[in-house]
Amino acid sequence: MALSLFSKSKKAIIERAQDDYATKMRLKYKPYYHAMESQSGTRIRLNGRDMIMLSSNDYLGLSFHPKVIEACGGAAKVWGTSTTGARISNGSRSYHVELEEKIAAFLGREACHVSVAGYISCCSAVASFAQKGDLILADKNIHSCLVDATRLSMATVERFSHNNPEDLRAILKGLPHNTPKMLVVEGVYSMEGHICRLPELAQIGEEHGCFTVLDDAHGIGVLGRQGRGTVDHFKLGDQVDLVCGSLSKSLASTGGFVAGSRAMIDYLRTNSRQTLFSAAISPAMAATASASLDLMQSEPQHLERLWKNTKRYREMLKGLGLDIWESETPAVPIVLGSKELVYRFWNALLDQGVFTVMSIAPAVPPGKDLIRTAVSALHSDEDLEKIAAAMAYAVKQM
Ligand SMILES: Cc1ncc(COP(=O)(O)O)c(C=O)c1O
Repeated sequence: MALSLFSKSKKAIIERAQDDYATKMRLKYKPYYHAMESQSGTRIRLNGRDMIMLSSNDYLGLSFHPKVIEACGGAAKVWGTSTTGARISNGSRSYHVELEEKIAAFLGREACHVSVAGYISCCSAVASFAQKGDLILADKNIHSCLVDATRLSMATVERFSHNNPEDLRAILKGLPHNTPKMLVVEGVYSMEGHICRLPELAQIGEEHGCFTVLDDAHGIGVLGRQGRGTVDHFKLGDQVDLVCGSLSKSLASTGGFVAGSRAMIDYLRTNSRQTLFSAAISPAMAATASASLDLMQSEPQHLERLWKNTKRYREMLKGLGLDIWESETPAVPIVLGSKELVYRFWNALLDQGVFTVMSIAPAVPPGKDLIRTAVSALHSDEDLEKIAAAMAYAVKQM
C-alpha cells in the first residue's frame, strides 16, 4: 500500500469548534432548538405532549388568522415561490412596492424598503449610513443585529446606560461637536420589555445633531394607534430619522423594513450591502405582512385583547413575587439571576406544559439571567389559567 508523502495536519478551526464549551452544554441539556411536531394558535405539540406556547413574538396572534393564511397561499399561486434575485437586479416585483408604500403610509413616512429579515433591515439601517470616523451612540442593551451593524460600519461606538438620557447627555458633552453622529435605540427592548424613553433621548439626539435610528421590531403592532409603534405612542414627529423593524413579530411573517424620508431610502437602496447582495422577500411572506397590516387597521380587537392579556399576565407574575424587570409590554422577562435557577424554572414550566425560552449571560447582562416570555392576543382565558398554575408550581420548585 502506497503511503502518502504528506501527513495530514490538524485543522485548528475544526478542533476549536469541536471543543466549544457552549455547544457541548447545549447538546447535553438540550434547552434550545426544540422542533415542535405541530402547532395550532398558542397550542404546540412537543415530544408527543400538548403545550402552551408562551414565548412567541406573534403578539397579535395573526399567524393563524384565516385571511392571513389565505393571502400567504394565494401569493405563491400567483407569483410562484421566490423571485430568486436581489431587488436591484431581477428581484423587484409590484407587490414589494405595494407593501413598502403600505408600511410607509402606516408609519407616516415618505418611503420604506423591505428585506428578507428584520436582522438584515436593522443592520442596513445602521451600517449603510454610519461610516469610519463617525460616532455611534448606542443603548447598552440593543439587539445583536444592531451591535453587529455598528461593527460593520467601522464607526467609533459609545454605549450609554440602558434607557438613560442623563448618561447619553453626559457622554455627548465630551464628544467633538463636528463629528457626524448616530443615535441607535429600540422602541421596545425585546428581552426587558421596556419602552424606550424616546422623547428625552431623541430630543438630546436632536440637540447634538444625531441621526436617530429606532429599531421598533417589538413596538410595531403593540404600541401606538392601531399598533403604529413607539413614535406614534409618544406622538413624536420626525425627530426619529429611520424606523426599522421586523415583519416576523406582530406582522406574522418573516422579513424586515426600514422606513424614513424618500432621500434616505433612496440612499439606502444605493449603498446597503445587505440590500444589494441579498435576494428579495418572497411573495408569500410579503403578502402575509400586507394582510396583517390590513387587519391591524380593520380589526382592533386583537390589540385590545393583547393588552388585556398583558395586564392580567403581569399581575399574575407579580402576585407570585416574580421579578419581571419592570416590563411594560407583552414581552415579559422572569429574572432569576443565575443560569442554574433559570434552568430549573424553565424545566418546571415545561413539565407543566408551558413552553418558554431561557436567556442567560452573555445574551443578558450578568446577574440578569432570565426566562423570556411573551403573551399574545391569542392566549385564551383557559391558557392564562393553565399558565398561572404552571408558574405557581415553578415558583415552589425554586
Ligand atoms: C429588536 C430586534 N431587532 C431585530 C430583530 C431581527 O428580526 P428578524 O427575526 O425578523 O430577523 C429582532 C429579532 O429577534 C429583534 O428582537
